[in-house]
Amino acid sequence: MSVRRLAEPQFQPQTFTFNEEFAASAQKWIAKYPEGRQQSAIIPLLMLAQEQNGWVTKAAIESICDMLGMPYIRGLEVATFYTQFQLKPVGTHAHIQVCGTTPCMLRGAGELMDVCRAKIHPEPLQLNEEGTLSWEEVECQGACVNAPMIMIFKDTYEDLTPERLAEIIDAFEAGKGETVPPGPQIERHFSAPAGGFTALGDEAAVLKGTSTGVKASASTKEKASAKAPASVKTKTPSKAAPIKAKAEKPALDDKNRPAGIARPDVVDDLKLISGIGPKNEGLLHELGIFTFAQIAAWKKAERTWVDGYLSFHGRIEREDWVKQAKALAKGGVEEYIRVFGKKPV
Ligand code: FES
Repeated sequence: MSVRRLAEPQFQPQTFTFNEEFAASAQKWIAKYPEGRQQSAIIPLLMLAQEQNGWVTKAAIESICDMLGMPYIRGLEVATFYTQFQLKPVGTHAHIQVCGTTPCMLRGAGELMDVCRAKIHPEPLQLNEEGTLSWEEVECQGACVNAPMIMIFKDTYEDLTPERLAEIIDAFEAGKGETVPPGPQIERHFSAPAGGFTALGDEAAVLKGTSTGVKASASTKEKASAKAPASVKTKTPSKAAPIKAKAEKPALDDKNRPAGIARPDVVDDLKLISGIGPKNEGLLHELGIFTFAQIAAWKKAERTWVDGYLSFHGRIEREDWVKQAKALAKGGVEEYIRVFGKKPV
């Protein structure tokens, strides 16, 4: 856990004022609380100050305390307790908060922090050279079931692997953070069981929203209908959006399946392609894909076919596997660096 202190005096501006828009929001928040309880607005006001300035300065804390009629020490206590408040300048494109509490630690938070050290800065709460990225370790963010996870500003990114985190960091660094969908980064709906239902018998019915999915025997159903008086209405099904059914994988004998080959003596390290980790590499091997040249030759229909087998759809196009594979097939890592301006992840 990082020590939480205010930024050094040389970084602290002398004054703070909410601009017109944020001042109006602050007044709305203050008005929500009964007379004499205005101090309850401390957290939303600190958040507004952070949104306006990018981080929470000492002057902002003191100014907000003045607005709420509370001692500075109370505001300082709140701002230094919650890790949602950044107490020094953080990356302008992303500040990555890696949960390091036990469930996330057991599921690989250490490796995620190694990625941050390698890609951003060896030390937490330090900016990268461009000033666009920073990172820190934080305590539990409440998404333990989908561990390991990170938070970037107000969004969480869950079920992470080091490879996926590296991709997310690249996207934010390139100013394309909005293209990364928050939430689980594997094929699961919110915190539903990864890999499908385990306790409900009829998954298809649950996914369609037509039944609870619990397999009832014929005699149970008969007994239930015999006991239910005609006047008793059955429960209205939930209006919640139905869980999206898993897309069917394309058939193995589909004409769009890219041609596979027998495993050669020397195979290319497909993991050099951003978006291909050990899991996807294993999958591609099972499909007879062992070389960069094979991937470089994929046409659109073939890419769509392979995408049907990935847990996280769309990444072949999004990460441009074909362009990466073409560079690697043509001249290895050197050519990759020439084309993309950086080493393969
Ligand atoms: S332990 Fe990481 S989110 Fe709870």
